[in-house]
Amino acid sequence: MCGIVGYVGEKQALEVVVDGLRRMEYRGYDSAGIAVVVGDHLDIRKKAGKLANLESLLGADPLEAATLGIGHTRWATHGGPTDINAHPHVSADGSVALIHNGIIENFARLRDELAQRGIELTSQTDTEVAAHLLAEHLGQCEGDLAEAMRRTCRQLDGAFTLVAVVADHQDVVVAARRNSPLVIGLGEGENFVASDVAAFVSYTRQALELGQDQVVEMTRDRVVITDFFGEVVEGKPFTITWDAAAAEKGGYDLFMQKEIAEQPRAVADALRGRFGVDGQLVLDEMRLTDSQLREIDKIVVVACGTAFHAGLVAKYAIEHWTRIPVDVELASEFRYRDPIVDARTLTIAISQSGETMDTLMALRYAREQGAQALAICNTVGSTIPRESDAVLYTYAGPEIAVASTKAFLTQIIAAYLVGLYLAQVRGNMYGDEIAAVMKELNDAPQAVDLVLDTSEGVEQLAAELAEARSVLFIGRHVGYPVALEGALKLKELAYMHAEGFAAGELKHGPIALIEPGLPVICIVPSPRGRAVLHDKILSNIQEVRARGARTIVIAEEGDESVTEFADHLIRVPAVPTLMQPLVTTVPLQVFACAMATAKGHDVDQPRNLAKSVTVE
Ligand code: G6P
Repeated sequence: MCGIVGYVGEKQALEVVVDGLRRMEYRGYDSAGIAVVVGDHLDIRKKAGKLANLESLLGADPLEAATLGIGHTRWATHGGPTDINAHPHVSADGSVALIHNGIIENFARLRDELAQRGIELTSQTDTEVAAHLLAEHLGQCEGDLAEAMRRTCRQLDGAFTLVAVVADHQDVVVAARRNSPLVIGLGEGENFVASDVAAFVSYTRQALELGQDQVVEMTRDRVVITDFFGEVVEGKPFTITWDAAAAEKGGYDLFMQKEIAEQPRAVADALRGRFGVDGQLVLDEMRLTDSQLREIDKIVVVACGTAFHAGLVAKYAIEHWTRIPVDVELASEFRYRDPIVDARTLTIAISQSGETMDTLMALRYAREQGAQALAICNTVGSTIPRESDAVLYTYAGPEIAVASTKAFLTQIIAAYLVGLYLAQVRGNMYGDEIAAVMKELNDAPQAVDLVLDTSEGVEQLAAELAEARSVLFIGRHVGYPVALEGALKLKELAYMHAEGFAAGELKHGPIALIEPGLPVICIVPSPRGRAVLHDKILSNIQEVRARGARTIVIAEEGDESVTEFADHLIRVPAVPTLMQPLVTTVPLQVFACAMATAKGHDVDQPRNLAKSVTVE
């Protein structure tokens, strides 16, 4: 949610900043803007709409050459997506340009105080107050930019990443962080700040994590980090393990197509190196002891969107393997309903970005109640893992398309590994049983690869159904969260009514929605799993078909019993029951992507959405 980049070095700042914005546009695309420092003045361009609009503006009206600059791509919160509300925002005296991610909660009071001092805001944003405050403080602390930023931050409530440059300060960028993400890239004779390492990975893989409530002052050869009161602190260095090519389209038309196709590799990477030399499962970071894990009597998964659906899938496996009750909670609801969590609760936060504010706040709440916290995350060094007692990274590589695909599959894998880990520590499963499940998991990449072969047929089907008003999805057992995920993908990308239901629940209301020709996508469990589930969903398919629905049936190879009830059949490889979400989800991703394409929508950047939502 909002992408931020800052650069100081020897290169043309404009090129570096635009390149960074391009790689972070998934974070928001309501407007974009850039400021560079040229001698004693700032040169600024900003434009509503996608980055391409700003690039056209820059083509017609180029910025002056500079080696220091900042850039922003916005997902609007306060104030509509207009040119005026685009960042950077400039102080009344024109000396400070500032960009922001997050929400300044006390902005109305600060705005009124500024007005009393004769400074009227020109935009409808909360951000603009910070630009004015920074300029005021700068005047009071003899041009010490870092100190001015610290004083500004101490006045602000809420979540914010701020980055600012100042006319006359040709060699320094200052940035601050509370809750919203910010990382530093360390180059040779150049340094970067950004919301995400993707912005600078083509220049350097050496990075520093910035902690909570910290300010960084950065020149081309120096990075100084302090807390909001000026105490110097150390950043935590880390190396980015993927290269810039991983964040490129690599020959595909769309990031989403590339990320769907990458899933066999992503699943394999999520599983790699999980057995230690002693044959025991290993997580990435573990600050909980075995005896703490043996004490756990309840698991609460907190997550949003697709990650929430991964949690729902995991519940089936973790309860089955460990016999620990698992609640899966929408993170945005969790802390507002007085949940029962204590020191014997393990909270599992699932998040691709590691920055989703709803999930972070739920995690913090659980920890305040004394719960242990485990993060399943794709983004190394992000906030959610940093604030957790244990971490398992999904290693899916950068996911750029706003609609999540490979993150989902790898979150399921990671949550399964957590279940097996707990079963191992608590003695719920024998070593050979765990090894047997690991074998099934290790076979998954090949099965996912095979299911990708069905993509062409699914794309044709989507094109045929492009005029449908609504699509329903039904499933049972682990097929139920898959149905929810299929419907979410379609809503996100094709902007159409889509709903997922537990197939058995259909007759309790939703069956009233069925009308002739309505497409219903049915996810059929394996007859080799619980035969009763398989038989019951066949009945459910017949119920909707009898009422005129057009049935699209996803069933495993060799299950001939479904053929007569399917208007369209999508085959997936036969895999064990708990592995089925890994194969049945893939055609639904392809379906949503193709449906959006058929409708002419922007698949990678759907309207109104942002990939990483850092406000509550
Ligand atoms: C946003 C994205 C979704 C994603 C959700 C959770 O809403 O658009 O695709 O599933 O956030 O994101 P996270 O990074 O926490 O997995």
